[in-house]
Amino acid sequence: MASFKKLHTILMEFSRNLSWPFSSSTTNTFILSLFFLVLFSYLSSSSFSQNSSTNPVTTTLSSPLLFSNSLYSSSSTLPKKTYYVESQRNEDAPHSVVVVNAVKLPKQTKNSAETNLIKKLSSCDFFSGTWVVDDSDQLYKPGACPLIDDAFNCLKNGRPDSDFMKWRWKPSGCLLPRFDGNRMLEMLRGKRLVFVGDSLNRNMWESLVCALRESLDDKTRVFEVSGWNDLRSKGYYSFRFEDFNISVEFVRAPFLVQEWKTLNSTGAHKETLRLDLIKNSSSIYQDADIVIFNTGHWWTHDKTSKGKNYYQEGTFVYNYLKVKEAYTKALHTWAKWVDANIDPSRTRVFFRGYSVSHYRRGRWNSGGNCDGETKPITNVTHLARYPWMMDILESVIREMKTPVFYLNVTRMTDYRKDGHPSIYRQPGTQRTAGMNQDCSHWCLPGVPDAWNELLYATILLLHHDSLIHYS
Ligand SMILES: *[C@@H]1O[C@H](CO)[C@@H](O)[C@H](O)[C@H]1NC(C)=O
Ligand SMILES: *[C@@H]1O[C@H](CO)[C@@H](O)[C@H](O)[C@H]1NC(C)=O
Ligand SMILES: *[C@@H]1O[C@H](CO)[C@@H](O)[C@H](O)[C@H]1NC(C)=O
Ligand SMILES: *[C@@H]1O[C@H](CO)[C@@H](O)[C@H](O)[C@H]1NC(C)=O
Ligand SMILES: *[C@@H]1O[C@H](CO)[C@@H](O)[C@H](O)[C@H]1NC(C)=O
Repeated sequence: MASFKKLHTILMEFSRNLSWPFSSSTTNTFILSLFFLVLFSYLSSSSFSQNSSTNPVTTTLSSPLLFSNSLYSSSSTLPKKTYYVESQRNEDAPHSVVVVNAVKLPKQTKNSAETNLIKKLSSCDFFSGTWVVDDSDQLYKPGACPLIDDAFNCLKNGRPDSDFMKWRWKPSGCLLPRFDGNRMLEMLRGKRLVFVGDSLNRNMWESLVCALRESLDDKTRVFEVSGWNDLRSKGYYSFRFEDFNISVEFVRAPFLVQEWKTLNSTGAHKETLRLDLIKNSSSIYQDADIVIFNTGHWWTHDKTSKGKNYYQEGTFVYNYLKVKEAYTKALHTWAKWVDANIDPSRTRVFFRGYSVSHYRRGRWNSGGNCDGETKPITNVTHLARYPWMMDILESVIREMKTPVFYLNVTRMTDYRKDGHPSIYRQPGTQRTAGMNQDCSHWCLPGVPDAWNELLYATILLLHHDSLIHYS
């Protein structure tokens, strides 16, 4: 029975919170993704009664599948009966429960292969697993997608080995469905999906654009709306998939908050970072259907004037502020903005976690390198500690009222010391001695394709609301 409860709980979440298109009223419906484990222990101890098919079942609903470890473990099939479920608010975790009055579960016969897939996925922690060798085709043909800019196009830049493209992420608890571009296009029809963040999100954005483009017969039907060819220098890009009325966009906002100029005591302009203001490009994506945020690699001393006279709130400029404090303030600014400006019944908010760099013998600007790496890490004792930035992110998200899907990719990226451009970061650079290597972005095809497979699996689950009907 415990196993049934777990599955049931997830389906409730889908039906109420994660409906697609985002039409249901979401008053008082909150999901707190990161709370799952805590909440789950609460749930496990909470009373749960299932008397008959028509008697109400009372339970407290948990946060969604994405952060769960085996939400159910048996292979029991979906119940065919109607269950009425209502929840109480858990005062210890006020944002982690939703109120659902009545939900009817689907008929098993509808499409049972699909139902089984969904059931399996919804029980699975996507982010805990390993990389397995995979000889099947990449999401798009290596070297053939013109929408990858040179910085990620390692093959074009002369990288001779290809094993780095032949790995697939395998969660311990399930097999991810293969990315199906047609299916994804159908699910995104008429929608705007916007990546917001730094160049690592640009990396993921280019991967998704290429993966979707691959399934189009007429590839001229996807184009950058402003006609930009250079995909690096602008603050905003939008790829249109004309036949599906889809836009897949990128908004550059490496800190998420606003880069600023202020006058210092001598009257000169000085660059600062407004920790109290969301970057003004937020108006672009505020009402998109899906927004995928990230920030991380810019929060270093090198990129923030070592914290001296750089961070600003209102008119006040800090003489000095630690990166950690500045980052925390900025994330709170982001969270407040999201809670105040994003309508969770319309927009799904994702945050992609920290992507790990692999510089040996130095840092990105001091001779650190990763060339010659052709295999992922296999010895887990060589993986890094979970970064403090993500600890802070988790605690910030925990306090938000907007449901945030956290793509917890840190660990999976940590294995992939072989996946970076290294010296193949521009055409010809492999022969340039002494240049900085790139051991933080990823070659494409490569690691960000796996992030998009996780995104695909998640959207598949969200879309699956159609399996559930309200009474
Ligand atoms: C994210 O992954 C890390 C490393 O695997 C883990 O320590 C952390 O608890 C995960 N966070 C969540 C919310 O699941
Ligand atoms: C295209 O999608 C937008 C939303 O992104 C919608 O407002 C518009 O009506 C759609 N156009 C067509 C022709 O379906
Ligand atoms: C003011 O800013 C200018 C330009 O960044 C800089 O050269 C100068 O040292 C600054 N003066 C003070 C007092 O911070
Ligand atoms: C944000 O501010 C900058 C500089 O003031 C301006 O050039 C830009 O157009 C603004 N962007 C939006 C989307 O308002
Ligand atoms: C993993 O690495 C640790 C530390 O370098 C080492 O002690 C251990 O023997 C390694 N394990 C394997 C299986 O190679």
